[in-house]
Amino acid sequence: MRRHYRTFGVGPHFCLGVHLARLELQIAFEELLASLTDFELVEPPVHAVSMFNDGFKRMPIRFRRKRR
Ligand code: HEM
Repeated sequence: MRRHYRTFGVGPHFCLGVHLARLELQIAFEELLASLTDFELVEPPVHAVSMFNDGFKRMPIRFRRKRR
């Protein structure tokens, strides 16, 4: 995992809840993704143009909720 981001701060006041926060996010995304299906791109993604960040500016997707 890349460690160059500062989401959880830096130095002596680095976030004390980082492990709990990551675990909560991992569980939340696992549950969310497990409840959805049929993901598809609606249109081609648009890259963000930036010297500092790599990512998408737009990536419209479509999906359905799984039946229980
Ligand atoms: C996505 C969730 C979280 C983000 C993005 C986040 C982010 C941050 C950041 C950026 C700082 C540094 C603030 C500064 O430099 O002044 C910080 C500090 C701190 N965070 Fe988090 N945090 C998250 C979740 C949590 C959780 C779940 C807890 C505890 C259960 C927590 C407890 C703390 C504490 C106690 C500090 C202060 C540490 C110190 O001053 O030595 N955080 N957090």
